[in-house]
Amino acid sequence: MKNIQSNIKKAKNYLDKSHCVAVPTETVYGLAGNAYSDTAVKKIFNLKRRPTNNPLIVHYYNLKKISEDCEINDNFIKLYKKFSPGPITYILKLKKNSKISKFVTNNKKTVAIRFPKHPLFRKLLKNLKYPVAAPSANISSRLSAVKAADVKEEFGNKIKFILNGGVCKIGVESTILNITNKPRLLRYGGLSVSKIKKTLNQKIVININSKDKISPGLFPLHYSPGLPLRMNAKKNKKNEAFVLLKKRENISKDIYYLSKTNNLNEAARNLYSVLRKIKKDKYKSIAVEKIPNEGIGKTINDRLKRASNFK
Ligand code: TXA
Ligand code: MG
Repeated sequence: MKNIQSNIKKAKNYLDKSHCVAVPTETVYGLAGNAYSDTAVKKIFNLKRRPTNNPLIVHYYNLKKISEDCEINDNFIKLYKKFSPGPITYILKLKKNSKISKFVTNNKKTVAIRFPKHPLFRKLLKNLKYPVAAPSANISSRLSAVKAADVKEEFGNKIKFILNGGVCKIGVESTILNITNKPRLLRYGGLSVSKIKKTLNQKIVININSKDKISPGLFPLHYSPGLPLRMNAKKNKKNEAFVLLKKRENISKDIYYLSKTNNLNEAARNLYSVLRKIKKDKYKSIAVEKIPNEGIGKTINDRLKRASNFK
């Protein structure tokens, strides 16, 4: 407990001085900085080697402070009540007098906001006088980090501090929904679209491959382990790692399980760790068996599809 307090204090001190620290969320680790500080936000982009036209998500403790920064609407309130804190990010209209750094939004008229659920990050946010901009804590286009050691692997000693909150429970990034107008899904994520649809009782336009320049983070190549990857494989080739969702009898050393019981939530939680491990084990390519395209399986397939664009 004492340790927790002192770690949160450490993270706060760095953030107050416009440095970056890594923070745990229920989805993936984030690379955090003061969202109101140009200095801090520029550091995030540099560390991640992220194109400056790819806007960041701003994280809040709760909805008390957000009306200083963005326009709230009925759909937002409905979803917030049901799903926040949790793995959903809302795109809302930015207020003109908001203090959010223009580097966060790339000078756009909208902002992405989210209320993370991890208790450590929540404790930290509660102690801050500003919201926190945080993209996933990985070098641009690579796999997100789901534990402190992954963050270390990505950035070495380049970041001041990692607030260690163990392994992320969900393991894939938040679902992104634009609700400035009719609801549009921009990224599959930890919260299933069917649940959102049920709550809003409205049609959700799936807009994940939009040419819309505002979400360049949804580039075709993303979430890549840096190896060729193919989906819907029935078997693996020689020297190819084989990623499975269900237990098989003919165990070969090339087999990696996302789940042994066809559990899609477990598979999502293990996805990035398994891909990282395969890379470390020096395989040259990856085959993945067919993943059912339902619930969080849609998110897994979205990530695999983007990773499969690696040549
Ligand atoms: O689960 C998550 O969302 C994690 C944790 C750390 O919160 N964060 C995360 O951030 O995945 P990042 O930066 O890796 O992905 C954010 C995505 C990017 O694809 C970006 O283009 C999009 O959100 N985005 C940010 N602001 C936007 C906006 N105003 N309009 C449309 N897309 C936006
Ligand atoms: Mg990311």
